[in-house]
Amino acid sequence: MPFPIHRPRRLREKSAIRALVRETELSTGDWIYPLFVVSGKKIRKPIASMPGVFQLSVDQLASEAKEIQKLKLPGVILFGIPETKDAVGSSGHSEKNVIAQAIAEIKNAAPELLVITDVCLCEYTDHGHCGVMKKTGVRNIQIDNDATLEILSKIAGLHARAGADIIAPSDMMDGRIQAIRDELDAVGYKDLPILSYAVKYASGFYSPFREAAESAPKFGDRHSYQMDPANTREAIREATLDLEEGADILMVKPALSSLDILKTLRDHFDTPLAAYQVSGEYAMIKAAAEKGWIDEKRVVLETLTAIRRAGADFVITYFAKEAARYLKMEG
Ligand code: PBG
Repeated sequence: MPFPIHRPRRLREKSAIRALVRETELSTGDWIYPLFVVSGKKIRKPIASMPGVFQLSVDQLASEAKEIQKLKLPGVILFGIPETKDAVGSSGHSEKNVIAQAIAEIKNAAPELLVITDVCLCEYTDHGHCGVMKKTGVRNIQIDNDATLEILSKIAGLHARAGADIIAPSDMMDGRIQAIRDELDAVGYKDLPILSYAVKYASGFYSPFREAAESAPKFGDRHSYQMDPANTREAIREATLDLEEGADILMVKPALSSLDILKTLRDHFDTPLAAYQVSGEYAMIKAAAEKGWIDEKRVVLETLTAIRRAGADFVITYFAKEAARYLKMEG
């Protein structure tokens, strides 16, 4: 038989038919926009490695939130850059914390927006690590997992009281979901969901974020708490533990270099699944587009489609606003 009878091409000729049989649809409702909130006034500071992304002071958030709500994006995730940092990240849970102020400001300006808060120490510690450190020898310094849990819980409690809709721990300490769940339950937030950065690889793709959040570690690296990108079974183990400890949504990050992991988790768990298209993924596309080497809109929509196709229910992405505008123009 010289020619195949089944010809997939038949369904590709007309765009209306392509649309009819399309398996993955993009929707503005699936994208969460990250915001970097800095203390101070009238600050709108560009981040060099992330063109189009800014550090914003609290007074800038009302107009930003209104714009995001108008684009029909469902929510934002907040990262705080405090005025002062110390070894134990105290500014992360002080009552005057930038995140607490930011939540109030956003809720006031755009009540429909969901506010997710990132819970981690790296923005608040002077050494830039995601937990507190302890000396374990003359020259040896190590992350203090269990001492960190207490501080993370305090930060989560503060975010809850300030009105966060979802708490998102990104620190990767062992046992943090349980610790945060216990704290939230104890202070009256039994119904507040936890989005766990369950599978967070130690990745070179986070560098621009560390400029944005001023959170690069001053010494060492994050390999003792973030995952080895070589591992799949460990991802299942981390996700299983987080679910047992009370996570409501699992997240995988980075997104594009972990599509197989997203698919594995999708097949393994029936829990809602998120993906974080991280700063380096954003920066790569922006840089290549700036040089005229790729078509930005096409690549952005293609990557967002691939992340959804791999199994993510929603995506945290710095492209959220631009992508929402693309869909609006097409629709
Ligand atoms: C904090 C945190 C990081 C990111 C999200 N939360 C940085 C890191 O772990 O170094 C990265 C997000 C991005 O690159 O866009 N722990």
